[in-house]
Amino acid sequence: MNLVCSECGRPAADDAMFCASCEGLLAFETFAAAPGADLDRDRIAARRNSGDPRDRSGVWRYRELLPAIPLEAIVTLREGDVPLYGAPLAAEYAGMRRLAYLHLGMNPTASFKDAGMTVAISRARVTGASVAICASTGNTSASLAAYAARARIAAVVLVPATGISASKVAQTLDYGATVIAIEGDFDAALRTVRAMDPQRVAIVNSVNPYRIEGQKTAAFVLLEQRRWRVPDWIVLPGGNLGNTSALGKGFREALALGWIDRLPRLAVVQASGAAPFSKAFREKTDLVPVHAETSATAIKIGAPASWKKARAEVAASLGTVLDVSDDEIADARAIIGRDGIGSEPASAATLAGLRRLVAEGTISSGDDVVLILTGHVLKDGAYAAAYHESAAPFANRILRGVDPAEVIDRLNAPA
Ligand code: F0G
Repeated sequence: MNLVCSECGRPAADDAMFCASCEGLLAFETFAAAPGADLDRDRIAARRNSGDPRDRSGVWRYRELLPAIPLEAIVTLREGDVPLYGAPLAAEYAGMRRLAYLHLGMNPTASFKDAGMTVAISRARVTGASVAICASTGNTSASLAAYAARARIAAVVLVPATGISASKVAQTLDYGATVIAIEGDFDAALRTVRAMDPQRVAIVNSVNPYRIEGQKTAAFVLLEQRRWRVPDWIVLPGGNLGNTSALGKGFREALALGWIDRLPRLAVVQASGAAPFSKAFREKTDLVPVHAETSATAIKIGAPASWKKARAEVAASLGTVLDVSDDEIADARAIIGRDGIGSEPASAATLAGLRRLVAEGTISSGDDVVLILTGHVLKDGAYAAAYHESAAPFANRILRGVDPAEVIDRLNAPA
């Protein structure tokens, strides 16, 4: 697989992080099978029955479609092999006849970042890096910290000093990373990281094309569980937009390999206070960075690095982009919980977005839709606790000073 500039198309050196000519983001070319290669989708999928952790990983069992990394260099925590769940209550809430969640929060560090991080850190091991760094709103940092610990590589993370989830920071500290809190937002932290010399430190934000290659396998894991039936729509949250570019690439490669016969349409949902991509899509302009504000702190990003790649994927899939308010996200998150599925706020932007798309007629009630949940509920327990103490429509307040027997009687009473 060749590394090229995603903007000017020029070939890039193996160890580069940005294009030497135009500073654009690098990307691996769309995977094309070598003549005679055995890329039978069911043979690859059947590796999940093997006892080898690299086969059980939903990322590494698709290794033929990933950049070449020696098997012994792979650092895996059995990421990627996440469940697809039915979403009956959410379906009703959005006005759909049926609906499903692909829960990427069921990864080892409880967010989708692990599928990309396993590849980025395995690659860092191949290059002999001794330090890896990222800027983060909390999930990338926890993921980096865990994989770097397994690889015995030092991890450094730059996080905003305020406005991110304390649980994510605690998790990152637990895995032994050096955490640097900066007086600035995610966008400022990412600027600092991007200015670093990739020869001295492995940069593992999603500007790193190895991250994208790992994350694209979520498309395969989803299709595998659906026996390769293509959904009409995939709805996912958009922040820095690495995941949109990764999933889009995954589906395009599955199509190119003949594993599927059409592309699902991508619907990318942003939080209204952090919605430069949504605005650019609506107004058909280039992206203009904004100062981001939202209580869905994972996606509080005003200058998404991968917006051009993501725009190309949305266009290729005939998709759409929209944004929803923090209140819509909060209520949607509570509804997902009532399906017995825990997610963090950013993930719930998907259900809030779907509800809008159904209401406006872009998606119809009979369509086959999958919501991509990107992070687990325990990633931001404080947010959930505050919601349930509030006067919000689906708040489930703690009862105090009541007789438990009376509560049972009430619950047993016929409706
Ligand atoms: N959902 C969650 C839970 C996230 O943590 C992120 C990004 C996104 C969605 C958006 O994904 O950036 O690929 O569009 N979190 C990053 C972080 C920025 O640092 O953890 P994206």
